[in-house]
Amino acid sequence: MTAPVRVGDPATVNVALGERSYDIVIGRGVMASLGSRARALRGGAKAAIVTDHIVARLHLDAAEAALAAGGMASSRVVVAAGEGTKSYAGLERVCEALIAARLERGDLVVALGGGVVGDLAGFAAAIVRRGLDCIQVPTTLLAQVDSAVGGKTAINSSEGKNLIGAFHQPRLVLADTAALDTLPVRQFRAGYAEVVKYALLGDAGFFAWLEADLEDVFAAAGAGGGAAREHAIATSCRMKAAIVARDERESGERALLNLGHTFGHALEAAAGFSDRLLHGEAVALGIALAAEFSVRLGVLASEAAARAIGHLGRAGLPVRLDEVAGDWPDVDALLDLMAQDKKVKRGKLNLILLRDIGHAYIAPDIDPAPLRAFLVEKLKPR
Ligand SMILES: NC(=O)c1ccc[n+]([C@@H]2O[C@H](COP(=O)([O-])OP(=O)(O)OC[C@H]3O[C@@H](n4cnc5c(N)ncnc54)[C@H](O)[C@@H]3O)[C@@H](O)[C@H]2O)c1
Ligand SMILES: [Zn+2]
Repeated sequence: MTAPVRVGDPATVNVALGERSYDIVIGRGVMASLGSRARALRGGAKAAIVTDHIVARLHLDAAEAALAAGGMASSRVVVAAGEGTKSYAGLERVCEALIAARLERGDLVVALGGGVVGDLAGFAAAIVRRGLDCIQVPTTLLAQVDSAVGGKTAINSSEGKNLIGAFHQPRLVLADTAALDTLPVRQFRAGYAEVVKYALLGDAGFFAWLEADLEDVFAAAGAGGGAAREHAIATSCRMKAAIVARDERESGERALLNLGHTFGHALEAAAGFSDRLLHGEAVALGIALAAEFSVRLGVLASEAAARAIGHLGRAGLPVRLDEVAGDWPDVDALLDLMAQDKKVKRGKLNLILLRDIGHAYIAPDIDPAPLRAFLVEKLKPR
């Protein structure tokens, strides 16, 4: 698989969900088309842009100007940046602000930011006036390849992440790759873990391309990164769109997108959802653990696991627990946290495991004893 050599027209990926179908438009500078695209969707509507205080400083003016250029009036709702905002209090703030801005059915919520803003604003849009339309304008790599696509929205409960939410598909996703120019490299890297996840779960050719083109995906646009970056994002979106179209509500195949996430969510919770461990970093660790556990169960060749883990490591992502500063809880606490994951069905733990590079599968009803022994070993300092 080769990437296009130059940055050309934006790539469009359709999420085929019948009358709720929508486009993901990916390209450098596509933010400028926000107003005309919003007007095409909802002529005569008004919009409220929900964003966080960091993204507001960097990209809010451009988003407002783009809406104005399309003749659409807008108001702004700025929340504090960070996972803590995905809370009841954060949700209340956004809902009240949308109501105060007089948004009616048919008006538009524009979620401008990373996954935190996307999940929070998307959920508010799902419930204010029993449903407002939403446009996702993701500004982190993680949001562009993952959270803005597929309609899952949520806030966190004190019991765990994303436990209160709704399925609410956006009407449009506008992924401006130029927005990533301002993203700190640690955040970019964390989003890259999700890109690797797609390759590992379903596309060995894409994985080989990532191995060959890693530097170009990370390079700044001026240094040749533009086309490779867009290719990585569009390929990831295409994979997620196809899976979501076949299994919107996660009754089966969509669970594959959780590769690395049952381990990862437990680690994130253990780290207190803090800067100590970003979501994508937890996913990288989780993928490494899933690969190693797959080897342990005899379903994955150790060379394939080494290749997957080696690539994550080359991208600068953590792949061993002792690479993260600070202590981890003991194995029982970790298993408890894994059992809190939404993917647990009637007390049985399902894991997404690997048979090969590009081939993940749902392993239902994991036997706790070998998993426990495996984790005890991984928790030992080396
Ligand atoms: N709904 C889903 O399907 C889904 C999927 C994966 C993750 N998520 C959720 O997404 C969240 C994580 O998203 P995230 O990693 O984007 O985190 P985030 O939204 O917290 O963004 C990370 C940081 O980058 C800043 N930022 C955003 N865009 C920027 C830019 N262009 N330039 C500079 N700084 C910028 C933000 O202000 C924040 O400080 C988690 O809450 C996770 O649960 C949801
Ligand atoms: Zn994720």
